[in-house]
Amino acid sequence: MGYSNVVFDKKDVFLVTGGAGFIGSNLCEAILDKGNKVVCLDNLSTGKKANVDIFINNPNYNFIEGDITDFTTCKRACENVTYVLHQAAWGSVPRSIEMPLYYEEVNIRGTLNMLEAARQANVKKFVYASSSSVYGDSMELPKIEGNEGKVLSPYALTKKTDEGYAYLYNKLYGLDTYGMRYFNVFGKRQDPNGAYAAVIPKFIKLLKENERPTINGDGYQSRDFTYVENVIEANLKACKASSDFAGESYNIAFGGREYLIDVYNVISSALGKKIEPIFGEERKGDIRDSNADITKAKRNLGYDPDWSFEKGIYAAIQWYLENI
Ligand SMILES: NC(=O)c1ccc[n+]([C@@H]2O[C@H](COP(=O)([O-])OP(=O)(O)OC[C@H]3O[C@@H](n4cnc5c(N)ncnc54)[C@H](O)[C@@H]3O)[C@@H](O)[C@H]2O)c1
Repeated sequence: MGYSNVVFDKKDVFLVTGGAGFIGSNLCEAILDKGNKVVCLDNLSTGKKANVDIFINNPNYNFIEGDITDFTTCKRACENVTYVLHQAAWGSVPRSIEMPLYYEEVNIRGTLNMLEAARQANVKKFVYASSSSVYGDSMELPKIEGNEGKVLSPYALTKKTDEGYAYLYNKLYGLDTYGMRYFNVFGKRQDPNGAYAAVIPKFIKLLKENERPTINGDGYQSRDFTYVENVIEANLKACKASSDFAGESYNIAFGGREYLIDVYNVISSALGKKIEPIFGEERKGDIRDSNADITKAKRNLGYDPDWSFEKGIYAAIQWYLENI
């Protein structure tokens, strides 16, 4: 269970792209805690300088402010790197519907740049962030790798394309790639601000400030909310996975299913608030229900998540109470 028993050689160096963001900064922290060196590549577009500053005095941490759309920067970042954990991308389904050209450039071209730079640098493993959005309009529950529907947004298409390139880099060039299909990740340092903020930090922040959050739809849409510690475990275990299981994608979730209205109620009662939400329009590009079958990641990566939604949500609320 967890990742405390995942051990790396002290000489192993990790490159975390998007390391100034939510998931990336949690990965940097876990790797530094293991005593390994981390290179963080981030252009600070949606990431935060504060997420760099917490590690900057650690001699094992090296920050490169740069853009994955620039191939030379990607090549420089991959020098002497053992493992690449590629998280840099633009998230948010609604924003991708508003600005598809930008998503193409960052999420597809940026990922291709990173794959090519990693191949040229001969890195051992290339583990990258995909997304549950690749399941698109498939109504099947739980979601199982191989049973994808048609994508519903430019964002989902970028992740699907990334998976296609990662597959090719494995088959054509022998690069060990592993796609992490994250399902609604939450936890410390996830940005609560802005129009495109994820629902959990947004609810916590607004309720804490006695404001009324909006639920898009009737609140009975469901998600497999996944605490960030499980995501760290998956990434670190993928670094140790057999090459036989490379070139593929894996559902990374807890394997539960929460209704949004219940999530809202858990947060408001933990904060001691009695505030009715506003029910707004359903969002374009969203699916109604999502929950993951995690059998494949368990079997091939040894993934064995031990942070349930219930355990994670109280840890996350505690962090937001102390930090925002
Ligand atoms: N959070 C989730 O629930 C979730 C779900 C599915 C997939 N993902 C994927 O996980 C990854 C990390 O997501 P997150 O939630 O931590 O988002 P985030 O926005 O907090 O982090 C993304 C980071 O990438 C950086 N970045 C963006 N464009 C860049 C560029 N051109 N060059 C260099 N750096 C760039 C940003 O500055 C930011 O620090 C993304 O690939 C995202 O698509 C996240």
